[in-house]
Amino acid sequence: MHMSKRIHSSQEIWEKDRRHHVHPFHNFVSYDENGSLIMDKGEGAYLRDIDGKEYFDAVGGMWCTNIGLGRKEMADAIAEQVTKLAYANPFTDMSNEPAARLAARLAELAPGDLNHVLFTGGGSTANDTAFRMIQMYQAARGKKRKKHVLVRLDAYHGTTYLTTSLSGKAGEKSPEFSFVEDIIHHLSSPNFYRAPSDMSEADFCDFLVDEMEQKILELGADNIAAFFAEPILGSGGVIVPPEGYNRRTWELCQKYDILYLADEVVTGFGRLGHWFVSKDMFDVQPDIITCAKGLTSAYLPLGAIIFSDRIYEVLRNDADRWFTGGFTYSAHPVCCVAALKNIEIMEREKLFENVKAVGPYFEAQLKTLRDLPIVGDVRGRLFMMCVVSVMNKKTKEFFPYEVNIGKRISNNCEALGVIVRPYVDLNILSPPLTMTRHDVDYVVPRLRRAIEITIDELRGEGYLAA
Ligand SMILES: Cc1ncc(COP(=O)(O)O)c(C=O)c1O
Repeated sequence: MHMSKRIHSSQEIWEKDRRHHVHPFHNFVSYDENGSLIMDKGEGAYLRDIDGKEYFDAVGGMWCTNIGLGRKEMADAIAEQVTKLAYANPFTDMSNEPAARLAARLAELAPGDLNHVLFTGGGSTANDTAFRMIQMYQAARGKKRKKHVLVRLDAYHGTTYLTTSLSGKAGEKSPEFSFVEDIIHHLSSPNFYRAPSDMSEADFCDFLVDEMEQKILELGADNIAAFFAEPILGSGGVIVPPEGYNRRTWELCQKYDILYLADEVVTGFGRLGHWFVSKDMFDVQPDIITCAKGLTSAYLPLGAIIFSDRIYEVLRNDADRWFTGGFTYSAHPVCCVAALKNIEIMEREKLFENVKAVGPYFEAQLKTLRDLPIVGDVRGRLFMMCVVSVMNKKTKEFFPYEVNIGKRISNNCEALGVIVRPYVDLNILSPPLTMTRHDVDYVVPRLRRAIEITIDELRGEGYLAA
């Protein structure tokens, strides 16, 4: 597999990391050979590595540094809370002021009657714990057989045992792992780019909705507890479902008494110019929203499950019922303070207006890359975008695995001072919400250049015709 060797002047840190630090999604051989790019400083959307080289981080960390790095007022708010109350036990009947304030604020920001919040440490644990809540809700209302879950291919819901099982990305299902299989059912990915070429978008939408209904009838609605869906699929390839799909699949859930969980871990907190997009962009009123990432803009780890009055009322109908889920660091006061400060900054600086103003320009500029011979698709919305590389634009044929096309492009882009996230055939861009038109004019030409360099390399290696 193609990887570039990283040589750092600060060999000592690089070597410590290489020898001892096992990363999420670790490839043992390539990290052992190449080590890591070690970051040292961050301000706004800019990062500086340990050798002093600067980068524009067009990935926003991991779609999470929404307000940008290095904010002094955030540091002050966090420091003040650490000094005042660094921790309080969140279990059963003890709480803290920032958690109470944040729960109430999230109830205001979430659509409809989503008025109840359970905090977790991140997105995976939010989805995992939400599943427990769904099980409990269905059982508590006497629907004990409702245990099955519908989810889509290309979905990403995290990396716990359950959420890896929910995810629909084949590449993440390591053959050495085992998975929950008996109650999880994957529907087709709503990726129109990979739909049969004779299908219109409307036909594709009809196909997907029909497939979901057939699956419900096959399994029996009495057996299905919930549908888990990202409004726009993130890591699966920034897949914007066909027009009407989100609303129509939600309507199926209403018709068949299936809970609708919107995983807004990426789409929440401004990436698309809204606190949450389910209702505002897709006219869907979920029963549960899960969120993380932009909730604190990654200053500290925090996730949340925001759920409806309807679920809450069922769960509270038995005095002997205990929701035996949650974590030592649920509702951590310092993390909750970071989230409150983050929300304040987003509002004060009108960052969502910036996303709505700059986003269409970003989309349009990225779409100019479509004239390059390997760019098959450029898709997404606003500050959630992705470039898809293919070996043949007509047949949409993938590059062979060993080319590692996304990584090649991101390595070449990195050398030009811009970070774009590779994922197999994709390069994902999810910048901080502060990105300006000027920044777009910095990022897109560099990405173009990186793709051109990659094309030259591939011609030299015989993967593309000269
Ligand atoms: C849609 C979605 N859900 C859940 C997760 C998992 O979140 P975390 O990595 O915080 O556990 C992610 C992470 O990228 C995500 O993109």
